[in-house]
This record gives sequence, C-alpha cells and structure tokens, in this order.
Amino acid sequence: MEATGLSKYFPIRRGLMRREVARVRAVEHASFTIDAGRTLGLVGESGSGKSTLARLVTGLIKPTSGTLQIAGQDANDWRGRRGRQLRRNVQMVFQDPYSSLDPMSTVGASIVEPLRSHRATSSFDERRLRVEQLLKMVGLRPEHRHSYPSEMSGGQLQRVAVARALALSPQILVLDEPVSALDVSTQAEVINLLSDLQQQQRISLLLIAHDLAVVRHVSHNIAVMYLGQIVESGPAEEVYTSPKHPYTVTLLQAIPVPDPAKQRARRRIGVRADIPSPTNPPSGCRFHTRCPFVMDVCRTESPDPYLTPVGTVVRCHLHERGIELRGRSVFEAVD
Ligand SMILES: Nc1ncnc2c1ncn2[C@@H]1O[C@H](COP(=O)(O)OP(=O)(O)OP(=O)(O)O)[C@@H](O)[C@H]1O
Ligand SMILES: [Mg+2]
Repeated sequence: MEATGLSKYFPIRRGLMRREVARVRAVEHASFTIDAGRTLGLVGESGSGKSTLARLVTGLIKPTSGTLQIAGQDANDWRGRRGRQLRRNVQMVFQDPYSSLDPMSTVGASIVEPLRSHRATSSFDERRLRVEQLLKMVGLRPEHRHSYPSEMSGGQLQRVAVARALALSPQILVLDEPVSALDVSTQAEVINLLSDLQQQQRISLLLIAHDLAVVRHVSHNIAVMYLGQIVESGPAEEVYTSPKHPYTVTLLQAIPVPDPAKQRARRRIGVRADIPSPTNPPSGCRFHTRCPFVMDVCRTESPDPYLTPVGTVVRCHLHERGIELRGRSVFEAVD
C-alpha cells in the first residue's frame, strides 16, 4: 500500500443554505508505504486523524486530495468491479468487537458473511470448512462457531472479528485500535496473535493504536500522527530508540520504564497546553503551541518532511537547522 499526500477535509456547514463555515483538516498530506508482509504501526492521541486515515485507505471515505496505490494499482475509485476487488483485498477490524459483530448471529455465520456477500464459496461444506480453518487460525475451537457474541469474552470476540476479516484472504488488514477495548493481558494476547498471523500469512498490517507501547514489538515501521499530519515515521527501532520529533519524545515518555530509579531520573520535557482543534490548527508547525523547544520560525513556517541520517522522516525545524542550536538534544532531555 502506498499513500501519497492523502488529505481529508470535512466541511462544517451551518444555516438554511448549509453554507460551509469551516473545515476540519482531519488528515493532511499523509504519505507512507507498507510493503508486502510488513506492519506499519500508526500512533497518535485522540483526534489526530488515525481513524480517518484508516477509512481513507479502506475506501470507506473519499480523499479530498492525494492518491493511493494498492498492489501496484490505483485505488482511488472503490466503485464497480475494481472496487469490489479492492474491498476484498483490504479488510478492516474495528476497535469495539461488541458493536462490530451482529449479536443475533452465531460466530460461524458472522465469519462466513463476507464469503457470502462476495460470493466467494459455493457450497455449505466449503463454508463450514473455511469457518473451522479460520477459527483455528485465530486460536479458537471449531465449536465456537455455534456461540453467540454475548457468550464470549472481549478477547475472543476480537479474535472472531480478525477471523472474519481474514475470510476473504486479504493482502492487507487495517486494524483501528483493535485492542484498546480489552484489558491489558488480553491486549498482549491479541497483539501476539496478529504478529503470528502476519508472519504465517504474509499479510500487510496497518495497526492503529493510541500509544507506542502497543505497536512497538509487532511493527516494522512506525508513523506518529499529530493533528492530522504524520510528524515522524520510519523503522520502528529507530523511531523508538532515537526519536527526532519532540512530540514522539512526549509519547515515549508516556510509557513507564520498569526501573523506578530510572523512571524518576528521567528528565521530563514538559508539554504545555491542550491539543488544539484540527478545524483551526496552529500556524506554522502544528505542534508549536505545545513544544518545549519552540523557535520563532516554528510559529510561521510549516516544516517540510526531513530525512534524518538514521532513515526516519521528521517534520520539525529543529532538525532542518541542527538541534545543537539549543545546545542539547531532545534525547538528552529524555534520558
Ligand atoms: N465525519 C466527520 N465530520 C466532521 N469531522 C470529523 C468526521 N470524522 C472525523 N472528524 C474529525 O476529524 C478529526 C480526526 O478524527 P479521527 O476520528 O480520525 O481521530 P482519531 O485519531 O481516530 O481519534 P481517536 O483516537 O479518538 O479514535 C477529529 O477532530 C474529528 O472530530
Ligand atoms: Mg479513532
């Protein structure tokens, strides 16, 4: 999957004439690539545009501008026969398994529903075999096909949702905060399942989460979103061990370290103010109202993506101009 400059603006309309009075810039110029069999972890706080991006790349909404390629083909039109093929190939798993599965259908019926609607299998036996195979893939038992959602735990339901998404053997799975509704130990189980599936099936994953801790160990690459923009992206290990954007640093600080002495010794970089609105984002760099390293240029000029020596891409003036400007690096400030 390759997204180039994807943007989505939602118009806000008021009055009898439904005149457009403002726009929510939910996603702005997002570019990224997910190679075959790889996982991109997308993180950012609430309202940063993660779900909007997920809906753009699954064809649920149309971009205001920008282009999308899937498996080497244009994916800008999700109508007709081509659209059908695209939808088969890119499946989505939502945050809340309780509302994404029909409470009146058995697990088995829910899992084969995509096969029916895409007329992918013909016979009853074929569908039954596929259900059993899918249940096994997600670590459930064949008997689970008779259960109703109300009889299962959150973690089991999310496994069912994953099985359903895999029914049509997609090349790409988009998971929008698939574990945030689950308790911590179940979160790890589902994340491990995703990682196993990804290796066995060689599918590509776009894995969305609130915080970096969830995606770290399963993502090959990480993209960090802030107010609709990808502010830092690159190989997971580099983003994690050598974050270049002050916002990424603050996200990492939100993850506690196991050693209490180390935790206390961490010099925190303070983040001021609340997250601004994407309807009226700050001028210049969108993070400047909260950035502890803010310079004059940040208030007026939006930073262009900058390729760092470690292979990450960062939107931050500090790095274009050399972080030594301020005599210390962002990382020194973290540890
Ligand atoms: N259909 C819509 N109409 C108007 N504004 C919208 C619409 N969908 C999303 N938005 C706005 O776009 C911004 C991004 O929303 P989005 O749901 O993509 O964020 P998110 O990162 O997924 O947040 P969360 O972590 O809470 O799920 C928000 O300000 C939201 O209010
Ligand atoms: Mg969301």
